[in-house]
Amino acid sequence: MKTILTGIRPTGPLHLGHYFGAVKNWVKLQDEYNTFIEIADVQALTDNFNNPEKVRKNVRELAIDLLASGIDPNKATIFIQSMVPEIAELTIYFSNLVTVSRLQRNPTIKTEIKQKKELFGNSGESVTYGFLGYPVSQAADITLFGGEVIPVGEDQLPLVEQTREIVRKFNSIYGETFKEPEALLSNVTRLKGLDGNEKMGKSLGNAINLTDDINEIKRKIMGAVTDPDKIKKDDKANPEVCMVYYYHKLVSKDNLDTIKKECQNGHRGCVDCKKELIKNMEEFLKPIQERRKYYEEHEEIVDKILIDGTVKARMIAMETIAKVKKQMQIDYFN
Ligand code: TRP
Repeated sequence: MKTILTGIRPTGPLHLGHYFGAVKNWVKLQDEYNTFIEIADVQALTDNFNNPEKVRKNVRELAIDLLASGIDPNKATIFIQSMVPEIAELTIYFSNLVTVSRLQRNPTIKTEIKQKKELFGNSGESVTYGFLGYPVSQAADITLFGGEVIPVGEDQLPLVEQTREIVRKFNSIYGETFKEPEALLSNVTRLKGLDGNEKMGKSLGNAINLTDDINEIKRKIMGAVTDPDKIKKDDKANPEVCMVYYYHKLVSKDNLDTIKKECQNGHRGCVDCKKELIKNMEEFLKPIQERRKYYEEHEEIVDKILIDGTVKARMIAMETIAKVKKQMQIDYFN
């Protein structure tokens, strides 16, 4: 079995964008690969160092979201980044192998710096050393556990490429040590928000969270954007520009053809169409929320999964670090 390593930042509740864009795929892959899922709390702090409560609170919440989504702790290892200090150690060794300008040219970092400048103005002070270096830390995440296949969205591809470069450089200087990881692009494109925005995001207020109750689901779907040219209930409309249809495609698979036809020939009002989506969305989220309830009521089980997963990950990390230090000739007194 090949090894998969992926990570996710604990910064808020998972929404449908995370589910359809990543987690659903991991649930499938855990049967085919030796799977490691890192709760990237250290990486989350690069952006949230002044908000530690937020990161702390979301570690267990994220674990529960993952388990509720179908990640099986008997198949996949879920672990907490900060509890594996070897990651920080390897980050330091790797940091010699990357130039500052190469990091500044990393497309993911470039985009994020641009976003920061829009938020904080042009001073550039928002870009810390830790933030600029997170691709190096992510390379340590990936290589320390022998990650061969990295399932990521398109935005993360430059980080996998950066890891490959670091691996090549390390191997060429210190001798063959790491395998070059490969990205596995998830086939789902980024999910649009209920408002039609290209991105679904918590901060944009256009996301359905896996934890949303029926009232939240109702409120959000009733406010979703439909075909603006459809004014009256029996006007003909174009489902392809309607966010309600877009979400029907995810959760109403059985009835999709009918929904589309009725929308096109004016036999379906938007309110009824939304009500049907609300019902199907509730059905879709039900098993996820039932599993969540179980784990919420059994915190000790969640803690044990995290502790066991982290212990397992750390053993592998310690073995790798020993090898790294030998290769780098800093294995004194052995
Ligand atoms: N950077 C990723 C994100 O923001 C999270 C992450 C941390 C990750 N470590 C990783 C992804 C290792 C893949 C592999 O979503």
